[in-house]
Amino acid sequence: MRKLLLAVAAAAVFALPAANGAQAQIVIKFSHVVANDTPKGKGALKFKELAEKYTNGKVKVEVYPNSTLYKDKEEIEALQLGSVQMLAPSTAKFAPLGVKEFEALDLPWLFKDDKTYDAAMKGPVGQWLFKKLEAKGIIGLAYWDNGFHMTSANRPLINPSDFQGLKIRISGSKIADQYFRELGSIPQIMAFSEVYQALQTGVVDGCENTPSNYLTQKFHEVQKDITVSYHAHLQYAVIVNSKFWNGLPADIRGQLTKAMAEATDYTNSIAAKENTDALEEIKKSGKTTLHYLTPEQKAAWQKAMQPTYKWAKGRVGQEVLDLISKELNVQM
Ligand code: LMR
Repeated sequence: MRKLLLAVAAAAVFALPAANGAQAQIVIKFSHVVANDTPKGKGALKFKELAEKYTNGKVKVEVYPNSTLYKDKEEIEALQLGSVQMLAPSTAKFAPLGVKEFEALDLPWLFKDDKTYDAAMKGPVGQWLFKKLEAKGIIGLAYWDNGFHMTSANRPLINPSDFQGLKIRISGSKIADQYFRELGSIPQIMAFSEVYQALQTGVVDGCENTPSNYLTQKFHEVQKDITVSYHAHLQYAVIVNSKFWNGLPADIRGQLTKAMAEATDYTNSIAAKENTDALEEIKKSGKTTLHYLTPEQKAAWQKAMQPTYKWAKGRVGQEVLDLISKELNVQM
């Protein structure tokens, strides 16, 4: 009964009748840190379009890209406080929430390709991770793909020893921190919105990211050398404030679920091509040199980063690693 009362009260907060008797419009603030012209940026706009269409305008989605509303850490706090309703952070940024298990997805060369990644997130691993969010007042709605990371600096990064002493910006994951340490570099967590300037002024020497993020944030203009290493995967979890989501009228929630499922298919279907096109544009710009690893060089990187797997047990726990290794049919 108490639960029912709470649900009714929550629904009332979000669907108060307007003065003229019509239902007030429900507003979803969707904040994220990347440009509109990226897989995530386009996905958020697709969700807006579909959500507004399927709810017949009863829901309005306000998309705030490029950290215009909040930066990385602040946006997660804002979601928990209910100042925004929807986010799509990289799963590398979930440790401050107390769910370090997501970082297992950052293990180097974990997913051999996009298909393997996609199957894992649609399977038990993806759902198990979402369950971990519930205790935090957050519901996971979908996983959005953004392909694989490249690495860059103002010198060619070809052999593991090339990383020695470099300050590398990372987005938050201790797994990334660990594999960059194993290469001899000094990782530093920094908000995405601060990376361009930090690279430009030499606060950090290098970074990792996907081609679409390099291009739209112009990182390639302040990094002389990019290695197309594709050493780790970048994925997002689209998340909502549970109180908000559970308080929505059931029909609206159903329409939004449909909009999210379609926006997810759309985003995941464009991610690979968006990144291939972005890489092509970076190449054409002539502002940086792209490097590709030979199989031997790649093997040397893999060997140098391999201890991360053992180290990860203490960080993310055995349970998630077991789930992943079963799903991917790999030994860890
Ligand atoms: C980063 O901070 O490097 C990325 O997670 C940004 C993003 O959302 O793609």
